[in-house]
Amino acid sequence: MDINGRIVVITGGGGGIGRAMAAAFAAAGAGAVVVADIDGDAAERVAAGLRANGHEALGLRCDVAHEADTIAVVDAAVAAYGQIDIFCANAGIVVAGGVEVLDAEWERIWDINVRSHVHAARAVLPAMLERGEGYLINTASAAGLLTQIGSAPYAVTKHAAVALAEWLSITHGDAGIRVSCLCPQGVWTAMTGAPDDADDAGAEDGVAEGATTGGDSGDGLQRDFAVSTAGRDGMLMPAEVAAAVIEAVADERFLILPHPIVAEYEVRRASERDGWLRRMRRVHAMIRASAGG
Ligand SMILES: NC(=O)c1ccc[n+]([C@@H]2O[C@H](COP(=O)([O-])OP(=O)(O)OC[C@H]3O[C@@H](n4cnc5c(N)ncnc54)[C@H](O)[C@@H]3O)[C@@H](O)[C@H]2O)c1
Repeated sequence: MDINGRIVVITGGGGGIGRAMAAAFAAAGAGAVVVADIDGDAAERVAAGLRANGHEALGLRCDVAHEADTIAVVDAAVAAYGQIDIFCANAGIVVAGGVEVLDAEWERIWDINVRSHVHAARAVLPAMLERGEGYLINTASAAGLLTQIGSAPYAVTKHAAVALAEWLSITHGDAGIRVSCLCPQGVWTAMTGAPDDADDAGAEDGVAEGATTGGDSGDGLQRDFAVSTAGRDGMLMPAEVAAAVIEAVADERFLILPHPIVAEYEVRRASERDGWLRRMRRVHAMIRASAGG
């Protein structure tokens, strides 16, 4: 799809990958960018930054765990700009742990990482189908193609997000709906311990080292990133991920792999499942050993 003049909505656009995507879509000529985030001030700050650079932008508070909030964002975007051409369901969270994680936390991550994608598609598809054109970009993760050491809720919900994106593409592709699924490995954002202004820094400025030693949020996941495959393959900057998104939209390519090695891992997983599981158990053991347990 030609991004020029398109109306783009991005959830989780107040920080990290979403903020970088907002900047990249604006720079690529989007007609307007609607930045939605549970942190309404952050959303407005990103939108104000875009407006200061001469772009059309709106910042809105939206908790994607609530369908009514997504509907309100869609209504506001349509009221302001007439239609939505590209909806990026990008907001996501991580919850560390395994099956012991409480149901309330499973519910919360399910709502944010998966159900919000259902709500977004439900809200925008009717108008897109009527026009015979529209683009859904759903942020999953390489964890949705492989796994996430240290977080069953993240691995499971991201697999579900990939499955939904594939289903939408299969079901609505012939009706003009384009779907892309963004599946990065490690990206230097708040989720992986980056300070809020990290995406202003250069990718070579010790960021990978920072990622491996960055502050631990207490759940050990940032440390896990450091030792895991994601850590070894290198952390990308959000702007690099956003650039991959812009490129994929131009090509209307389903799978967006800012770390291309993920395609190889997926092939190995599919073609030799027991070997892949054995290797992942070794990664898991390395992580446990590095954690002293
Ligand atoms: N950072 C990584 O290494 C990585 C890797 C693969 C996939 N992802 C995925 O990319 C997406 C963005 O992650 P990020 O790294 O930029 O994280 P981040 O924490 O830096 O940014 C996430 C943004 O989403 C917002 N948000 C959180 N909960 C929300 C909610 N309920 N409703 C609306 N907004 C909400 C936050 O306020 C924040 O601005 C997520 O779906 C994440 O799972 C991240």
